[in-house]
Amino acid sequence: MTPVVAMDKREQLSVRDLISDADLSRSDLKLIFSLAERIKASPGGYAQALAGKQLAMIFEKPSLRTRTTFEVGMTSMGGFAVYLDHAKPRLGERESIKDVARNLERWVDGIVARTYAHQAVIELAENASIPVINALTDALHPCQAISDFFTLREKFGRLQGFKLAFIGDGNNVCHSLMLTGARLGVSLRVATPAGFEPKPEWVEEARSAGRSSVGAVQLFHDPWEAVTGAQAVYTDVWASMGQEFAAHLRSQVFASFQVNDALMTAADPDAVFMHCLPAHRGQEVADSVMDSPRSIVYDQAENRLHVQKAIMILLMQNGAAYPSV
Ligand code: CP
Ligand code: NVA
Repeated sequence: MTPVVAMDKREQLSVRDLISDADLSRSDLKLIFSLAERIKASPGGYAQALAGKQLAMIFEKPSLRTRTTFEVGMTSMGGFAVYLDHAKPRLGERESIKDVARNLERWVDGIVARTYAHQAVIELAENASIPVINALTDALHPCQAISDFFTLREKFGRLQGFKLAFIGDGNNVCHSLMLTGARLGVSLRVATPAGFEPKPEWVEEARSAGRSSVGAVQLFHDPWEAVTGAQAVYTDVWASMGQEFAAHLRSQVFASFQVNDALMTAADPDAVFMHCLPAHRGQEVADSVMDSPRSIVYDQAENRLHVQKAIMILLMQNGAAYPSV
């Protein structure tokens, strides 16, 4: 059996919850990356890392990747996850979010929550004595962005000065990529139709974090301009969960923002294609790009597992022991 060693005091995150990318420092990200790297290399060494720990997973919205990777992640580290379907009633409708938090903390060791309102995840964290992990809100998707930069780091090494173009809707995934990217010194080149830009408060936050780590956010309305010279081209659905009613209108507004072979020619010759998934093939991305050798979308999906295992260990084992392999 792999020896279990005391966690080095330096190996702790500066936060007790993962609610916003903006809460994490560059060294928090480095710690998550380094543990995820070790877990990916030797998953068996972590088979008991969360033995006896229980996780509650609250989902107001559907999920394939996030639900599976958190559940498989817990089980493969000796823990257990319970899925709480909150599609209807939404969190806070049957009883207050405060009461949900105060019940769950009596039974489980951590909460993963996917909600519409970002405030719902904040309120859970404010009222629970156990760690709360944001599994996507209307505003942010931090686990996605952290995993995506882990994937880029695997492929390209150093990320300082890396150029990432995000094409499409200035949505939750875009916000998290800007915020986490800024902390890693990545230049985000975001192209959206007018009126669909990322929210100014997140742009501002990313820009101010970027000043100290050489990262930057540039906004465009022309996808060709944003993609020029980019080392990665990223897109996401044009209508996010909760915006389905506007999908038809959006498909017209966003038509010239499709990532296709022609657009990819404007990027760096070695540029990769990225998507958080689920993808709407033929809309925001052409089949030929999704299935091309440049596409790293399934590597992104795989790494959700390794990175979230690292996040769970760091938050749920805070100060305790885990294997150092
Ligand atoms: N990328 C992502 O979060 O996928 P799911 O919505 O399937 O969880
Ligand atoms: N922007 C998308 C991401 C899905 C993982 C949504 O919120 O539906």
